[in-house]
Amino acid sequence: MATGQTTTAPDFSNGAAYMNGEYVPIADAKISILDWGMIRSDCTYDVAHVWKGRFFRLEKHLDRFLKGVAKLRMQLPFDKDELEKTLHKCVTLTGLDDAYVSMTCTRGRPTGGVRDPRLAKNNFYCFAIPFVWLANQEQQERGLHMHVSSIPRIPPESVDPTVKNYHWLDMEMSLFEAYENDANFVVLKDMEGNITEGPGYNVFALHGGKWTTPTRGVLEGITRQTVLDLCRELNVTAEAGTLTEAAFRGADEILVTSTAGGVIPIVKLDGKNVGDGTPGPVTTRLRQLYWKKHSDPAWSAPLRRE
Ligand SMILES: Cc1ncc(COP(=O)(O)O)c(C=O)c1O
Repeated sequence: MATGQTTTAPDFSNGAAYMNGEYVPIADAKISILDWGMIRSDCTYDVAHVWKGRFFRLEKHLDRFLKGVAKLRMQLPFDKDELEKTLHKCVTLTGLDDAYVSMTCTRGRPTGGVRDPRLAKNNFYCFAIPFVWLANQEQQERGLHMHVSSIPRIPPESVDPTVKNYHWLDMEMSLFEAYENDANFVVLKDMEGNITEGPGYNVFALHGGKWTTPTRGVLEGITRQTVLDLCRELNVTAEAGTLTEAAFRGADEILVTSTAGGVIPIVKLDGKNVGDGTPGPVTTRLRQLYWKKHSDPAWSAPLRRE
């Protein structure tokens, strides 16, 4: 052994990834620019989270991810148990108590320049980084301003939105439109003019005493499901159905749901107050209950720090 050489332990404090069969610090996690995940958005992913050392509804994220992988006719290198263990290990390596935990399966690339996706070896990777918020704490307390985009959401007949995907250009360009209209959140309509979802979140509107969240053309968000479950617990009427633009614009309360922040109130829609322009009472109750459930063993499970 050469003298004077020291080996330093990898630093996972900014995040840890599992990639190509090994755990690496997040800065070293690299993917080929030739992977079809990169050049064709040919991939699916999921994002779960850990809060105060506990995974929140991880089982539901795993099931949604596995369903998406199957729908895209991809194969993972291991089963659900191993996937779960790998996610726990990524978080454990970072030492984080609050983490954003992402898993992705890309098509990979067929060898020899052929274009047949059946010949590609799929590529799985996952990582844990510090928790990511859609909106900061002050914005969440005060509520956010939303714009209804003029750009329609990609039709579900073209790209299945229930397979969590990176086809975000409709939503990304809508964000530009939102900022140009003094809003920081945006929602897109479908080709029939009904409300769908926004970049990274589902929406709910309270109208005529009932919460509605769109069914068609959206990702079936885990936080969306959580809010439907919490409404049942609170004896508040809520259902998934058609949300017309008129009902949305006339809503008494609007909220968005996402793993990256939970329940977030919208207090202005295209310059007009939603309700009295402050977070609505039911939204506030749902938001409090959402975070309370994070320490409830029926809804969350401790990190396995092996
Ligand atoms: C398009 C879209 N809709 C909805 C959501 C919310 O889903 P979840 O509550 O599972 O985070 C996301 C999350 O990233 C998303 O990307």
